[in-house]
Amino acid sequence: MATFLITGGAGFIGSNFVHYIFNTYKDAKIIVLDLLTYAGSVDNFPVKPSQVNDRFEFWYGDVRNAPLVENLVARSDYVVHFAAETHVTRSIFDNRAFFETDVMGTQAVANAVLEYKHKIKKFIHISTSEVYGSDTNGCIPMSETHPLNPASPYAAAKAGADRLVYSYVYTYDIPAVIVRPFNNYGPRQHLEKAIPRFITSMVLGEQLTVHGEGEASRDWIHVNDTCEAIDAILNAPNEKVVGEVFNVGTGRTISIKEIAQSVVSAMSGNESIIGYSEDRPGQVDCHIADISKIERVLGWKPKIFFEEGLLKTIQWYGENRNLWEKQIWMRQVPITLKDGTKVIH
Ligand SMILES: NC(=O)c1ccc[n+]([C@@H]2O[C@H](COP(=O)([O-])OP(=O)(O)OC[C@H]3O[C@@H](n4cnc5c(N)ncnc54)[C@H](O)[C@@H]3O)[C@@H](O)[C@H]2O)c1
Repeated sequence: MATFLITGGAGFIGSNFVHYIFNTYKDAKIIVLDLLTYAGSVDNFPVKPSQVNDRFEFWYGDVRNAPLVENLVARSDYVVHFAAETHVTRSIFDNRAFFETDVMGTQAVANAVLEYKHKIKKFIHISTSEVYGSDTNGCIPMSETHPLNPASPYAAAKAGADRLVYSYVYTYDIPAVIVRPFNNYGPRQHLEKAIPRFITSMVLGEQLTVHGEGEASRDWIHVNDTCEAIDAILNAPNEKVVGEVFNVGTGRTISIKEIAQSVVSAMSGNESIIGYSEDRPGQVDCHIADISKIERVLGWKPKIFFEEGLLKTIQWYGENRNLWEKQIWMRQVPITLKDGTKVIH
């Protein structure tokens, strides 16, 4: 029975990955370590808190707690590290927790993996496409060799963690792989993020607010596709993937304005409900993933078209209002723009 330590497993991608492993590998044991910040919830687990299940164990704790992390890594075969502070806008409001959790939390996990490097089969570090910053070549697919120009405190903290893990492979030979997912969407994403915010604004009959002109564009990938990509990496021979970086995206870009329009049209609304506010500082103009490396090395490709994934996601928010209603008050963050103006984003 393989044991997976999944940090941040109570959050959006982490919990989708926990469900994925729970449903795909019936003989696997899952250990989740999560601090249950505003972004995590035990409601996201496949096993309810009141149930005991010998395949699922939850540890409420901090990824910066080195002895705890070491203890859990010692009992695991695979480590998949999602735990992080993740909201770009919140990192503009107050960035301390971002550097502490995203960098020092990763250091605690990497040190524990180093301690047990002969026992751990693979350590997958979940980085992000945000480490690239804006595309230096215009708006063309970005490969893993694109320069790292993080444009927000969140992205800078994640770039630090990404390179920290790389340095541990290079210096200490730990069995780590770095994954850079592009923008994920799907069930259980916090309402502070664009797609759930748009969908739930429609459900609540409010205006949909787009930052700037809505021209910023991203590569949107359904979270199930991301889980399958991580699984492909877990199953790959170490000599093919250890020390490597893999983009996980679709190769297609869609602007925020088009996303808002798609949500309105899929929910039979009128486009006049879309409003515009000042642009967010630290905004990246364009992101498209070059996914040729992961296709070539692992044969992985995304399966879910955006239009199909969006409809499924809208359906999930329609059916699970009890799970997201408690986040309504956390959708907006007060930030200061470059010229000193204070706005709510
Ligand atoms: N959502 C995206 O589009 C996206 C894209 C690329 C990369 N990522 C990366 O994927 C990972 C997961 O992102 P997400 O969107 O699911 O995030 P999320 O904010 O939904 O979840 C983060 C989880 O980490 C937990 N956490 C925070 N601080 C912790 C700490 N100190 N100790 C233990 N647990 C802690 C939270 O409680 C929460 O459950 C992150 O590393 C993020 O940088 C996300």
